[in-house]
Amino acid sequence: MVVLLLIPALIIAVILKCLKPIKNISIKGKHVVVTGGSSGIGKSVAILAAQRGAQVTILARNIDKLTEAQEEIKKHCVNEEQMITKVSVDVANYEDVENNLCELEEIVGPIFMLVNCAGIAICGKVEDFTVQEVKNLIDVNFLGTFYPIKAVVSKFKERKEGIIVLTSSQVALMGMYGYSVYSSCKFALRGLAESLYMEVKPYNISVTLALPPDTDTPGFETENKTKPKETKLLSETGGLHKPNDVAKKLMDDALSQKFFSYIGFESFILTTLCIGMSPFSSLLEILIQAIILGPLRLIGAFYIVSFSKIIKKCFLEKQNKKNNKI
Ligand SMILES: NC(=O)c1ccc[n+]([C@@H]2O[C@H](COP(=O)([O-])OP(=O)(O)OC[C@H]3O[C@@H](n4cnc5c(N)ncnc54)[C@H](OP(=O)(O)O)[C@@H]3O)[C@@H](O)[C@H]2O)c1
Repeated sequence: MVVLLLIPALIIAVILKCLKPIKNISIKGKHVVVTGGSSGIGKSVAILAAQRGAQVTILARNIDKLTEAQEEIKKHCVNEEQMITKVSVDVANYEDVENNLCELEEIVGPIFMLVNCAGIAICGKVEDFTVQEVKNLIDVNFLGTFYPIKAVVSKFKERKEGIIVLTSSQVALMGMYGYSVYSSCKFALRGLAESLYMEVKPYNISVTLALPPDTDTPGFETENKTKPKETKLLSETGGLHKPNDVAKKLMDDALSQKFFSYIGFESFILTTLCIGMSPFSSLLEILIQAIILGPLRLIGAFYIVSFSKIIKKCFLEKQNKKNNKI
């Protein structure tokens, strides 16, 4: 029964996707700022912006990594007028962010697109985190996105144009073992994106919330070192995506003013299942969601049960080990 309902809905979705003309905003000659642009997804976004003729500025802390990325991005420029600028700043420091972005506008020109990619992931059980680690994760992942937005949004409103991208995660849609702090920060970004969307829509400013799945980046490599066994087992079902593919999808969705940006079938299913009161781009999209949401809840329930089984198995293994030691 579920499959019978799902198949026609998916066929309709695919046909509509193919029929719908893609409204793509040009960023040629426009100023694009990418936080976290020295590595991973952010660097790939910056390269794509350079390939589309934009003036690109990358923000991050480590100056050596910034310089290396700047050289790499320069190779992708398509005309001689393009400037690739780097700024060393901690996105969790509001005054530094505001001052640097103000200065940048004078040197490079008004910012048209802000892509927030700076972020860090640390996994662990709630009791494993130090208070300082929790604060640091909130500072970088939430405030480090809020601050650059706060610094540019008034100017975007005055100019009545602009694109704002927030990079969240698939764990902004469902909490997962080991992601308590990271997932909370990414959930918060969804709240920020939905509220911001309502505030800026009348000003012709678009908001895109990117929800990347596991992506093969230096950040992901570091995150893996902190993952409990349970987290590894739960997340290995999703596969690993390439940063260039994730960045391309993010860029295409942002330039066609979509609210959500996700990649792959699993992400489509999870995003649809968790759609809630999020903005929609067409009535047809709503129709498809209305048809498939019920059956998707059943499929979701299957995943919840299988996740619980994995966690219980790990719990019993640990208990047995403990008992054997005594
Ligand atoms: N990779 C994944 O599997 C995945 C999945 C879902 C979501 N995401 C999200 O996607 C974004 C990019 O992730 P990634 O994997 O590409 O990370 P990455 O390779 O570690 O790159 C992170 C970037 O952010 C910068 N950064 C970190 N802390 C900063 C701070 N306080 N101030 C300024 N810049 C800072 C880093 O440079 P410095 O260290 O030099 O400052 C670097 O340029 C993050 O928001 C992440 O949460 C990633």
